[in-house]
Amino acid sequence: MPLTGAERTEKVKRHYDEVAEIYDRRYTEGPGRSYHAHISDQVTDWLPLGGRLLDIGCGTGLFVERYLERGGRAVGLDISPKMIERGRDRCPDAHWTVATGEDLPLRDNTFDAVSSLLAFSYFKDPARMLAEVFRVLRPGGRIALCTLGRNFLTAGLPAIHTLGELVRVRQVGMGNFGERYYSDAEMTALFDAASFVDVRVKRCSFAHLNLAPPVYDLARRIEPLVERRLPYLAYNICATGRKPHP
Ligand SMILES: C[S@@+](CC[C@H](N)C(=O)[O-])C[C@H]1O[C@@H](n2cnc3c(N)ncnc32)[C@H](O)[C@@H]1O
Repeated sequence: MPLTGAERTEKVKRHYDEVAEIYDRRYTEGPGRSYHAHISDQVTDWLPLGGRLLDIGCGTGLFVERYLERGGRAVGLDISPKMIERGRDRCPDAHWTVATGEDLPLRDNTFDAVSSLLAFSYFKDPARMLAEVFRVLRPGGRIALCTLGRNFLTAGLPAIHTLGELVRVRQVGMGNFGERYYSDAEMTALFDAASFVDVRVKRCSFAHLNLAPPVYDLARRIEPLVERRLPYLAYNICATGRKPHP
């Protein structure tokens, strides 16, 4: 029987609790580090610096750390207590909350910026998450996110993840979580429907950290060209929007 939305969220939480340590190493060493820095750059480019940030699906706090280093203040929010524990160790000066991004335990009009990296594909109700973001942003505040986008490279991922779960591969993101990958048009429509303005969508990432080192290095070198000229080959999608003044 297919899992309900709540069961799916619980499964994602359990998974990230289990892999928290592996996760942190994966994105702080070797190719993982440069991959994560690259997507963080895309998100940072769109956000005001120095204000108050909410990072949804913050994981082990990698983006929160970067935001603080640039002079901002931040709240990290995630459904996985183990990922949050690592975030708290990494940045004791930030605030940390265990909650779902679709039901924010936060006051209206309090943040200058909201970010979300590699988490949006897990949300069972993305429209609700965006409505919550709209509520907690101050007028003029901006959201920027980066998540797996839909293209031919990601089309087979759910099947691979389901297979990985069946043969018990213990790897980050490996499992049948009912993830959803969005096209540029779908992402734009979601942001528009949530009442954001100045909505922009772009593609990024061609090099994947699972590639063997020489192939990864080659992919990294041609990545800027792919992102500029052949964006349909780039597998992450980034989106931004601003909450208008009333
Ligand atoms: C691939 S990790 C990304 C972590 C972090 N943003 C980063 O870039 O390193 C996905 C994160 O999203 C979190 N997550 C998934 N669904 C969520 C939800 N509904 N609400 C809040 N966090 C969620 C997971 O627990 C996990 O920590």
